[in-house]
Amino acid sequence: MNQVTELQNRALAEISASADLRQLDDLRVRYLGKKGEVTAQLKALGSMEPEQRKAHGQSVNALRDRLNEAINDRRAMLEAEALEQKLLSEKVDVTLPGRGEERGGLHPVTLAMDRAIAIFTKLGFDVATGPEVESDHYNFEALNFPPHHPARAMHDTFYFGDGRLLRTHTSPVQIRVMERSEPPFRIIAPGKVFRSDSDQTHTPMFHQVEGLLVGKGVSMADLKGVLHTFVEAFFERSLAMRFRPSYFPFTEPSAEVDIGWEKGGGAEPGWLEILGCGMVHPNVLRGCDVDPETYTGYAFGMGIERLAMLRYGVTDLRQFFDNDLEFLRQFQ
Ligand code: FA5
Ligand code: MG
Repeated sequence: MNQVTELQNRALAEISASADLRQLDDLRVRYLGKKGEVTAQLKALGSMEPEQRKAHGQSVNALRDRLNEAINDRRAMLEAEALEQKLLSEKVDVTLPGRGEERGGLHPVTLAMDRAIAIFTKLGFDVATGPEVESDHYNFEALNFPPHHPARAMHDTFYFGDGRLLRTHTSPVQIRVMERSEPPFRIIAPGKVFRSDSDQTHTPMFHQVEGLLVGKGVSMADLKGVLHTFVEAFFERSLAMRFRPSYFPFTEPSAEVDIGWEKGGGAEPGWLEILGCGMVHPNVLRGCDVDPETYTGYAFGMGIERLAMLRYGVTDLRQFFDNDLEFLRQFQ
């Protein structure tokens, strides 16, 4: 009897001291398993006198039931604790403030580009594109620049070893459009262009929007009209604007348009050239199988960074490409 009581006290103490489910299961095996201590006591009954067997059998059975019950209770408790622990560690505090997100904004050159495209689209121009890596043919030859024409020197061209080049203007898109379709044409061609150039009003990569309109009876007056309309819509304020005679091999006559601007840094106000334009040269039309006796047209090519400078009051064009966030945030 004493032995059973001693076994029970020891087992119950160990069960209630078990720290986790694994320890508890080890105890179950140690006491109630096939080779466990309680099981050994039950086996021992076989070799006892009937009288003794009855009394001992009852107390060992009671011990087994008592331990089973204690183990089940302890297991339920440990499982509840483990769940509690897990819930605590996985808790989401919905009252914490959010991490926040920085607000982005479009680059001023993108803003100016989108604005120019929107205005010309409303005027009925379609958007055309061409490659940035061009051949000499499209960038120069088809635009009426003969091989040794001095006007090529106006473009500080980046050449690849194989004769290809980075386009110096968007005018090659005029040729690509006229070659692949029939007049009339009314397109703009926005995109990047490249020249070995850098100062307050020049960068080696910049953006142009080319315009081309070819039809019957198109005149220089139409060109001036469309450019006036554009400049008014783009700047939404009155600015001094002048047409100045100029020269391009692919237009005749040719002109450049300047806008009055404040150069900043105490410098005298001056003129900033925003675009080149003119009436499409008959040689260019002929080269694209367009009869210059039947069709005439105008073309223009505007510098988007220059337009952005004037609209946003930026006095150094290179600032657009410094990636200075303080500068860029002003345009959000
Ligand atoms: C041309 O590129 C002609 N293809 C424009 C043209 C098109 C004339 C169709 C006639 C018919 P020009 O080299 O002047 O022309 O450049 C046009 C505009 O691009 C300039 O007025 C200026 O606004 C801008 N530009 C020129 N070089 C730079 C540069 N390095 N950085 C920023 N803008 C520039
Ligand atoms: Mg020019």
